[in-house]
Amino acid sequence: MQKKTKIAPSILSADFARLGEEVAAIDGAGADYIHVDVMDGHFVPNITVGPAVVKAIRPFSHKIFDVHLMISPVDAYIEDFAQAGADIITIHAEATPHFHRTLQLITSLGKKAGISLNPGTPVDILENVMDMVDLILVMSVNPGFGGQAFLPSQLGKIHRIRDMIAATGRDIDLQVDGGITQETAKLAVAAGADVLVAGTATFMGGAAHYGENIRKLRGI
Ligand code: DX5
Ligand code: ZN
Repeated sequence: MQKKTKIAPSILSADFARLGEEVAAIDGAGADYIHVDVMDGHFVPNITVGPAVVKAIRPFSHKIFDVHLMISPVDAYIEDFAQAGADIITIHAEATPHFHRTLQLITSLGKKAGISLNPGTPVDILENVMDMVDLILVMSVNPGFGGQAFLPSQLGKIHRIRDMIAATGRDIDLQVDGGITQETAKLAVAAGADVLVAGTATFMGGAAHYGENIRKLRGI
């Protein structure tokens, strides 16, 4: 049976002056995960939020907090995000030569561990961590900003990773992030994605539209 596609709104496109309310609104509108994009101005050319903000918005939703770390070096901050209330902590394979160790650190803190691949990063790097990840995040834009166009070149990668996940027999989320619209959502799901991150497409039109926006992305 095909699993229901999960939607993870990226709060990067929310109104930062009312972040708690925005998180509560997307929760009420049917979000499955709350996707928090953490950027350091070094690994990616933008700066967003840190653990204090994750902690501040945590009480606004009981949904899964899916924290996407675009920071390097990353190890020193893992514990802070775990304590702030992250449920899934995703790191970039390119952010450290020791991503195996970082994934061990995340799971040792009782959190789910995710690994993300930039558009230019080959799938091979996943081979030796398939037994320890709970989520694989395929970036369908170069990380750093919301509102960029989906890169169709990543669809083949999503397909290959879906096959790799099937071979493990493990329950691993295959998440796609960047440029997700109603149209590209269909392409990503057809290629094997089961969690879609969407910033622009979730938040457009204001809170009255969040429910409809999420349903459309889910394909219902
Ligand atoms: C990009 C971030 C994404 C981004 C998605 O670096 O990881 O989560 O906010 O934004 P949209 O959906 O607008 O492409
Ligand atoms: Zn993200």
